[in-house]
Amino acid sequence: MTDQSKIPVPPSGPSLIERASGAFDWNTLRRPALPDAPVKPRAAPEVAPVAAPVSAPSAAPAQPPPAAIAPVAAPVAPPVQAVPTAPVKQFAGHYHHIDRRHLREQCLIEPDGPVTGLLEEFRIVKRQLLLTASESRQGIGAPHGERILVCSALPGEGKTFCAVNLALSIAAEKDNEVLLVDADFAKPSVLSALGLPGGPGLMDALADPSLPVEDCILGTDIPGLFVLPAGNSTGSDTEFVASSRTASVLDRLTQHAPSRIVIFDSPPALAASPASELAMHVGQAVMIVRADRTGEAALRDALNLLSGCEDIKLLLNCTKFSPTGRRFGSYYGYKE
Ligand SMILES: Nc1ncnc2c1ncn2[C@@H]1O[C@H](COP(=O)(O)OP(=O)(O)OP(=O)(O)O)[C@@H](O)[C@H]1O
Ligand SMILES: [Mg+2]
Repeated sequence: MTDQSKIPVPPSGPSLIERASGAFDWNTLRRPALPDAPVKPRAAPEVAPVAAPVSAPSAAPAQPPPAAIAPVAAPVAPPVQAVPTAPVKQFAGHYHHIDRRHLREQCLIEPDGPVTGLLEEFRIVKRQLLLTASESRQGIGAPHGERILVCSALPGEGKTFCAVNLALSIAAEKDNEVLLVDADFAKPSVLSALGLPGGPGLMDALADPSLPVEDCILGTDIPGLFVLPAGNSTGSDTEFVASSRTASVLDRLTQHAPSRIVIFDSPPALAASPASELAMHVGQAVMIVRADRTGEAALRDALNLLSGCEDIKLLLNCTKFSPTGRRFGSYYGYKE
C-alpha cells in the first residue's frame, strides 16, 4: 500500500451543494440504499494481481522494501459463481451520513469519487480476500473466510487505515456488502475515522447476553457499508472475547447474509491480547507490515500470536518505491 500522505487535499471550503445541503438538511429526505436490494449480476471475473508494494505517487526518495517481508500468495482467477439469492437481513440501526470530505482528508477512499492510486491498490487487495471468502463458502480452505481480521504487530502501522479503506472498497462491490467491526476495544478509532456517533458495540453484546449484537450495528448512507462499534471496554475484554459466547455472537453477524464480509479492525498483536483471541474466530487475517517501521522479529512474534488463524496474508503498507514499476490511478489515463 502506497504512502498516501503526500496526496494534496483539495481546498477545504464547502461546495455550493454542501452549503445548500446545510441550509435545507436534505439528509432527512434522502433514503439510503437498502442492504437487501436485489443483487446485480456478477461481471466477468477479474484476475487479481499480487497485493505487493506499489510505487509512490510522489517523487519520494527511493527505499528498498524490507527483505524479510514475504508477498501475499499469488492469486488465481476466481471461478464464476452463482449469484447469492438468499435475502439479506436488514440491520435495525439508523442510517448515518458519512461526510465524504472527512474521508478525503484522512486519505480514505471516497465512494463514487475519482479513480485514485489508493482505490486501485485496494481493488487489488480486496480481490484476493473476496476470492478466499467465496471459496470458504464453498467449503474450500478454512471456514469463515468471510471474516477478515486486519492486524499488525505494533501500534500505528496502519490497521485502521487499511481496515476502513478495505471496507469502503468492498462496499462498492456489486455482490457483497460489508460490516466493519471496531475490535480495538481499548483504543477504538473506526467511528472517528468515519465520523460516526458513539454507541454500544461488540463488547457490550459479548458482556450482556440480553443485548442482540445486531441492535448495535450502524447503517450508513454508503450503500453496502455497516459498522459495529467496539462498545465499552470492560477490563476483561480478552476474557469476554475468549468466552464460548463469542462464536454465537459472531455467527449472528452473517446470519441470513451469505454475501456479507465482516472486517475486524484489530488491536496490535504485540500490545493487546484480544488480537490472538479474535484470530481464532476468523478465516483470514491481513497482517499490516509498515515499510519503514515493522521489524522482522516483531513480525514473526505477531504471526505466532495469530496462529489461531490458518490463512494470514501480509500487506506491506506505506511504501514509497516499487521495484517493479507499479503506478496506479492517474498514471494510467484516469483523471483525478
Ligand atoms: N498508506 C498510508 N498512507 C498515508 N497515511 C497512512 C497510511 N497508512 C497509515 N497511515 C496513517 O498513519 C497513521 C496510523 O495509522 P492507523 O491509525 O491506521 O494505525 P493503527 O495500526 O490502526 O494504529 P493503532 O494500533 O494505534 O490502532 C494514521 O494517521 C493513518 O492515517
Ligand atoms: Mg487502529
